[in-house]
Parts: sequence; C-alpha cells; structure tokens
Amino acid sequence: MRVAQTPLPLLYERLAVCRRVADVKPAGGRVADRSPLAGGRAGVAGNGAIHYINNMNYTIALTPGDGIGPEVTSKAVDILETIGDKFGHTFNFIELEAGGRAIDSTGEPLSAATLEIARQCDALLLGAVGGPKWENLPGNLRPERALLGLRAGLGVFANLRPATLLPQLKDACPLKDEVLTASNPEGKPNFDILIVRELTGGIYFGEHGRDGDGKNAASSAFDTERYTRAEIERVLHTAYNAASKRRGKLCLVDKANVLESSRFWREITTETAAEYKNIETTYMYVDNCAMQLIRAPGQFDVIVTSNIFGDILSDEASVLSGSIGMLASASIGAKSAGRKYPAGMYEPIHGSAPDIAGKDIANPLAAILSAAMMLRYSFSLEKEALAIENAVSKTLDSGLRTKDIASRTKGTTNEKIVGTNAIAAAVVKTLENE
Ligand code: IPM
Ligand code: MG
Repeated sequence: MRVAQTPLPLLYERLAVCRRVADVKPAGGRVADRSPLAGGRAGVAGNGAIHYINNMNYTIALTPGDGIGPEVTSKAVDILETIGDKFGHTFNFIELEAGGRAIDSTGEPLSAATLEIARQCDALLLGAVGGPKWENLPGNLRPERALLGLRAGLGVFANLRPATLLPQLKDACPLKDEVLTASNPEGKPNFDILIVRELTGGIYFGEHGRDGDGKNAASSAFDTERYTRAEIERVLHTAYNAASKRRGKLCLVDKANVLESSRFWREITTETAAEYKNIETTYMYVDNCAMQLIRAPGQFDVIVTSNIFGDILSDEASVLSGSIGMLASASIGAKSAGRKYPAGMYEPIHGSAPDIAGKDIANPLAAILSAAMMLRYSFSLEKEALAIENAVSKTLDSGLRTKDIASRTKGTTNEKIVGTNAIAAAVVKTLENE
C-alpha cells in the first residue's frame, strides 16, 4: 500500500482506513492503532485499553527520489512485500516527496511535514535525489539538501557502507587476481570491507559561506570541518561494535598530519580503543588509504572515518565491488524516547543516474540489499535479511546480470544481461522458492 504525500491530518485519516493490517481482526476486539503512524497491530480490550497483538507490523517511509530512484526503490518494495508474505510481516509504505520532485511540487527539497512523517515511521527507504534540472539552484535549494536534511533530522549519525566482492562478480572487479590475493589474509581473491562514515557532522554540516555584501562578487568562500567529542565517540562505538561482530580490526582514516580535527579524532580513537581490547586498532592517512584500497584491499576490515572522507572512499571502494549499483547502505541513529526502533535510513550509495532513468537498465540490487539492511539493523530480522541476500546471490549464480555488473572478460562466462525488471523479478522468484 502506498500513500502519496498529503497534509498530516489527511494522511493520518487515510492511513487508518487503508492499512493492510486492518483486514485482520483480533478475536474479541476491534483493530486499532496506538498512533496512526506507529505501525503496531493492536486490539482494544474491554476496559478500552489498547493492547498489542504482535510486533510484525512495520511502517516504512519511502522517498523514491529522482532519476532511477523510483524504479529501483519500487523493486525494494516488491522484495519487502515478498518477505512479508513469506514470513508473516506487514510492511506499510508511506510515499513521500523529497529531492528534485519535491522542489517541482512544493518549491523546497524537503518540507517540514515530510521530515516529521519520516521521523514518525519505523524506518526510511530512500531513492537517490538530484539531476541536471535542479543543478543551477542555490545550495540551500538543491535536491541534495533533502538528503542532508533527512540525515540530520532523523539523527542517523553512523553510515554503514559494506564493500564486498561477491565471488560471482569477481570478473567485474577491475583489480587483478594477484592484487586481490596478495592482501587477503587467507590468500583468496576477494575482500570484505565495512566503511563506517560519520554522517551528520563535519564539513558537510559546518559553518559555510562567502564574504562580501551579497551584491558585489565575493572574494572568498569557506566550509568548516568541526567535530565535537560526542560526535566522534558515538560513531566510534558503532564502528567498534561492528568490528567485534566481524574480523576484529578497525582502521581510523584521517589526515592527522595536517588537520587539527583529524588529530582530535585520533586522540579520541586511542582513548576509545582501550574499551575494546579485543579489537586491533590502526590509523591511516586518507591519501594513503585511497591508494591502499586499490593496492591491497584485503587488509581492511572496518574503516571508520569522517563524513567527507567516507563519502569519497566509499565511491572508490564501490568500483572494486564490481559496480556502484551493488552497494547498499544503512544509516543508524540512537533509539530515542517514544520510538520502537532506533532511527534508520536505508539507501543505495549510487546516485540518481538521470541519463539511464526509465530505460530499464539500472541495477536494482543495491536498493534491494538496502532493504535487507533495514530488516537487519532496524528490525533485527536477521533471518529475513539473509533470505534476501541469498536470493540476490542465487540470482547472480544463475548468470543474470545488469549491464553494469557484466564481466569484463567477454565470452568466458554464462552471463545473460537483463534489465531492471527482469533481474528484480528473478530475485523475487528465488525468494519465493527458497
Ligand atoms: C552520498 C552522496 C551524498 C553525500 C550527496 C548526494 C549529498 O554522495 O550519499 O555518498 O555526499 O553524502
Ligand atoms: Mg557520495
């Protein structure tokens, strides 16, 4: 079920009428909701008190965005609905406008009402925003503001960007086998990196501007990299926790030979490392890291870094995984009072790719894998997340590929290049039959 953007009271009313869960009435009570957007299945007891029937109902805000955003997020929705049918969960989707299409219809990339609805949902699934149509707008009116506004407004400070080379996509990786094996501790031609990018601080959110009176041409412009201790500590804890569930290695990437803010990150990392004695902590300058990623990617487990360095390095790492069309991401915040789940926002790391929009060639797998991350990180539905990841893996085993993940060495595999619709349908079918 999808509901288009509507003023809040109307939206509440419509939601209460058309949510799928309303079809299922618990014995001895009528179906009610603890709040119109809260997403819990509940019944009303004889004394009028609301009681919850189960925890299997999730309300997801959906911002399809621009360019290829709508076509790939709709595939992620298909997958979640398949998971819902298979595992007995109900996913209610509330479609919201953000980015370029919101500018077209409301004049601003992210309205306060949209942010408020997104905040009330259990999680947010996002398509990329932006395109040439909006490129010449002033900075504060560009589609990308929606992304930054949602990240800051939802407080999702830790951005998890896994970069893994799936065995099926080895031929799509630009690195030679011997480069891959040399740095892999087990001598295998692959790597498995998790980039943890700080997402709501640093230069993307710091003080910025131009000098001058606004009438005459400015002679300088500035952006500021500033981090507080608390901002650094919380993302470090997320990264250390992730490392403790993986191979136990964490590398702080910074530019501590030049930047004071980087030296601050290092000091705090050294202090925090003392709390995680089982994790091996290392430090690397960002320019070196850019080189090491293509020289010896197997050396990395978890990389933790600032907003801007994480943005850049994750694009670089994505190419090693075969295609940026494969990389999902999860942005996680704290579990605040009144919320059932921690704040969570899920998006492929690729952009809106307006040049290929609507042509049935975009790779929907990053969006589908982002839905898997939502199940894992927001709702602790590990079994369901794995089911999606297995279905993607089996679909690739069958030889189906979108153009971007085609093998570089032609004629050596059983690959079949298909479009967005066909590869997503294959994942759904595999999931249904699993
Ligand atoms: C990303 C993107 C965004 C970012 C842009 C579109 C604002 O590049 O998610 O990596 O810089 O964070
Ligand atoms: Mg980026």
